[in-house]
Order: sequence, then C-alpha cells, then structure tokens
Amino acid sequence: MTFGRHSKQALDMRAAGKSKSEIEQLTNTTVAIHDASFEVKQGETFVLIGLSGSGKSTLLRCLNGLIHPTQGSVFLNRENIATMSNKQLQEVRRNKIGMVFQNVGLLPNRSVLDNVTFGLEIQGVGLKERTKKGEAALEMVNLQGQGHKKIDQLSGGMQQRVGLARALATGQEVLLMDEPFSALDPLIRREMQKLFLEIQNEVHKTVIFVTHDLDEAFRLGHRAAVMKDGKIIQIGTAEDFISEPATDYIRQLVQDIDYSKVRKAECAMIEVKNNTYKQESPVHRVSRDCPLRDVLPLIAENNGPIAVVNGEDQLEGIITVESIISSLTGSAKQAYSEEDYLNPKYRKEMV
Ligand SMILES: Nc1ncnc2c1ncn2[C@@H]1O[C@H](COP(=O)(O)OP(=O)(O)O)[C@@H](O)[C@H]1O
Ligand SMILES: [Mg+2]
Repeated sequence: MTFGRHSKQALDMRAAGKSKSEIEQLTNTTVAIHDASFEVKQGETFVLIGLSGSGKSTLLRCLNGLIHPTQGSVFLNRENIATMSNKQLQEVRRNKIGMVFQNVGLLPNRSVLDNVTFGLEIQGVGLKERTKKGEAALEMVNLQGQGHKKIDQLSGGMQQRVGLARALATGQEVLLMDEPFSALDPLIRREMQKLFLEIQNEVHKTVIFVTHDLDEAFRLGHRAAVMKDGKIIQIGTAEDFISEPATDYIRQLVQDIDYSKVRKAECAMIEVKNNTYKQESPVHRVSRDCPLRDVLPLIAENNGPIAVVNGEDQLEGIITVESIISSLTGSAKQAYSEEDYLNPKYRKEMV
C-alpha cells in the first residue's frame, strides 16, 4: 500500500531493498505497507504490533476496505475484499467486519443505548430487538442500567466500553480494533484488557487488534505480527519471539518481557489421560491460558499441584513445581493418569 503518486516506482524500490525513508525522499511516495502477509484463524485474537508509523492502521483499514490496497489481496473466507465495489464493502462492514477505534467515535447527542444499537439500526433491525440486543451488550461490558445516560456523562473508560458494546451488539464475526485502549490511563487500561479477555472468552470473535504496547499484545493476543516500516518481520506467539527472534529488532523488542507473564499455564501442564475429575475437589483450578505468574503463588499456597481445567471445569492437566521447572528447561513432559493425580500418596510425593 502506497501513499503518493509514484506507487509503482516506490514499490519496486522497496522490493529492491531501499528503505521506506529513502524512497520517501526520492519519490515523495510513502510505502505504508510492503510484504505483509498473514492469516487469522476463526476465533483468534491476532495482534498487529509496531512503532508509530509502521503501517498498522493502514493495514487494518485495508482489511475492511476503508482503503484499497495498491497491490495484494484481502480474503474474508473466500471473498477478496480488495476488489469489492463500494456497495459490497458497505455490506461487509455492516454485517461482517466491525471496527473499534481509539477515540471511539460515539455520537454525543445520543444516549448510551442508542449509541450501542446504532449499528443495528443501520442494519435495519427493529426497535424491540435492537433494544434487547443493546441491553445484552451493555451487560457484557458491565454497563447494565446505564443505557439512558448521555455519552458525555460517562468517563473515558466507560465510553470505551460503550464502543466495545456497540461492536459486540452488531454481531459481526470479525472485529478490528485500532489501539482501542491506548488513550486510557494505565489502571483503566488494565481493566479494559481484563474485560476484553472475559468477553472474548465468551464470544470467540475473530479479532485483529492493533497496539504498540508489547505487554498488551501478549496479554490479549494468541499470536502477533511485528511490523516495521510497513513490513511484517515475524509472526508468532510470545514464546516464538523469545525463543527464536527473527531479527535483532525482535530480540531487542522482547528482551524486557517478563517470561512468567508471557508463558501460559499450558506450557507447564502435564496432561492427564482421562478427565472425570469432580468440581468439588478442593484444589486450585486455572485455565490453560492463565499466566504462569498467577499460577506460582497458587502452587505455593496449595502446597501441591494445581489443576488445569477447561471451560466445563473438566480436568485437562496438572501443574507441579517440577513441571514448571522442566517447562523452563525444556525437558520432556510425562503423561500422568488422573488416578495418579488424585491419589493422596502420589500427590504428596509430587510436592
Ligand atoms: N492518508 C495518508 N496519506 C499519506 N501518508 C499516510 C496516510 N496514512 C498513513 N500514511 C503513512 O503511512 C505510514 C503508516 O502509517 P500508519 O498506518 O498510520 O502507521 P501506524 O498505525 O503503525 O502508526 C506512515 O509513514 C504514515 O505517515
Ligand atoms: Mg495507527
């Protein structure tokens, strides 16, 4: 994607290895994106991360056709968004791809509920149904009962939640989020991240989330793509970036990451073979994606293994002090049976 008159020349120069700034000086044309291929799975939170000017917003806007890429394709399922007419694109944005911005773009004259249901109104959904959907969305973002308020009666964090509710209410399967929390102060930002994770755990949308904050990227994202000067230089999980950084730039980028924040419970989990484990069992339970940092104090407190359970509270594995150590040193995991785990004698031995 280029901005400027000499698109072809600029892209050729970029392909030949000239830098973005060099090309800008020579041709007065910006190569905003160049060489940025990626695939996002259904239900995944995929993060685009990079410094300001690296092309994140431009790439996001190409995804929903707000701008037409000079070159390349954007597929939603099998349809190429890059070649759609404006009418088709409107349809796609209305029904398939929603967007949440940093400065949320709420309508100050409308009530909170009317803002949330605005997208549904455009979709032609009747008043009764859209009120129902709007109220359900407000509940998801913990704003139940606030629907009648005016937007300017709400704090910045609350407004951001209204923006999120609007995107949820409209029901598009894909959600593009361009630095939605970047303007919020740190405490509220963390709250919003937590809320996002809770909601995403329930709705499993396909989210493409832009941020320049590494902690946010790996807290929220399953995978991330690191962009630099319009190019994606590595795609992967936090662990991929740490264990196999593609370039020195990535190595520098991730050097300050707190390993225990990034590593999830599942990395240190010993799988169990059968899972008829009962909910009443008096042990700590965590989900696969719980950060190891949060597991460690539980292990200390429990003086024994921690259970890893799925959404239905069925046992998927256990974490022990040893399994954490071996996950850090990379030694092989052993499979244990549930009987082993629930056997008090064995549990004692494991501690
Ligand atoms: N409408 C535009 N016209 C000209 N240049 C643009 C335009 N939008 C973005 N750019 C340029 O494209 C590059 C990428 O910008 P952007 O996608 O906004 O980056 P990011 O979101 O990562 O900060 C920058 O060099 C920016 O100046
Ligand atoms: Mg941007």
